[in-house]
Amino acid sequence: MRGFRSALALARAAARTRAELQGTRGRRLSHCAAAPARPSFGIAFDIDGVILRGRSPIGGSPQAIRRLYSDDGTLKIPFLFLTNGGGVPEHKRALELSDLLGVNISPAQVVHGHSPYRDLVKRFEDDLIVAVGKGEPASVMAEYGFRKVLSIDDYSSHFKEIDPLAPFKKWKVGQPDCKDFMSEKMHPPYDVYQERVKGVFVVSDPVDWGRDLQVLCDILSTGGLPGNGKGDQPPLYFSADDLEYQAAFPSERLGMGAFRIALESIFNQVNDVPLKYTSYGKPNPFVFKNAANILEKIVMDMYPNSQPRNEVQDHQFSTIYMIGDNPKVDINGVLKAGPPWSSVLTRTGVFRGNDNDPKFPADLVVDTVDDAISCILEKECIR
Ligand code: G3P
Ligand code: MG
Repeated sequence: MRGFRSALALARAAARTRAELQGTRGRRLSHCAAAPARPSFGIAFDIDGVILRGRSPIGGSPQAIRRLYSDDGTLKIPFLFLTNGGGVPEHKRALELSDLLGVNISPAQVVHGHSPYRDLVKRFEDDLIVAVGKGEPASVMAEYGFRKVLSIDDYSSHFKEIDPLAPFKKWKVGQPDCKDFMSEKMHPPYDVYQERVKGVFVVSDPVDWGRDLQVLCDILSTGGLPGNGKGDQPPLYFSADDLEYQAAFPSERLGMGAFRIALESIFNQVNDVPLKYTSYGKPNPFVFKNAANILEKIVMDMYPNSQPRNEVQDHQFSTIYMIGDNPKVDINGVLKAGPPWSSVLTRTGVFRGNDNDPKFPADLVVDTVDDAISCILEKECIR
């Protein structure tokens, strides 16, 4: 019975994709004149739930991405990854993606949720800031140019008893750089007992929620000096606001937006003034504008002698396709950003519906990222 059900589901999925592809052909793929040398379109790929689940490629992503390169390995179609995730510098993520997908991805093609933090360097250049999240949040910020940055692990380690539950945490911490972590613990690099934290940046998904909620409430309600009475809240930034996202587990996992809700609710209960914060990441239209600019630079690098297209006034692309799995984030972002953005929703992540999302409908719904590329290349007359 179970086998029959899954066979039926597979047959339905295949029929659906065929119908959509045919529908797309009929609707949108009427004529193909010779494709222009310089593509008039670009593509932005979401990562979690479209390209990867955890660290495993999904939806035929390696073959889909390879179709955007010529046989000699040069980039044929301008594309980038536009993810709300992060936690490592863009060049590291580019290497990891190159390895997983079998193509050469450049750091310029990776836009993380935290990439716009670069624009805040001038404001916080010499201030003590705290970076929160999995991976290497402090290295990310240091690479952007922030000079005085401590990860929340490091910062907390200098305050004895700041986390009353620490003695009960039996798991191992800081495996790869445990030695550095311990030596910095003995000699704080900055005078964290005198110098106020001037900014808090949530770079990636927080790891130790309990400790982080406590320490962030301390920093934010004391004016950046835990244990020293109340003070004005330093600025707080989140690199994304995803309530849930698709990781390796079969159902969605709580994301940075869930952590933000937890922090905000608690902070507002224990303080008289409500928490103030700024969130980046999709669906913020600023992120899409920034991605369009990056794609333009990528296409200029691909065709250094070509002139920008005359017929499009505000932007150089007639279409930029966003391939995403999360209607509330990826598709909503495209709806907010407007032309030249166009959305393609896959069924490999947060969205699993039969038709389209009722609240944030995509321009096209397909099963996988490979199906999405087939539709796009056909529409754009690329063989
Ligand atoms: O933590 C990652 C998550 O928030 C979403 O990543 O690639 O689906 O935008 P992505
Ligand atoms: Mg996603």
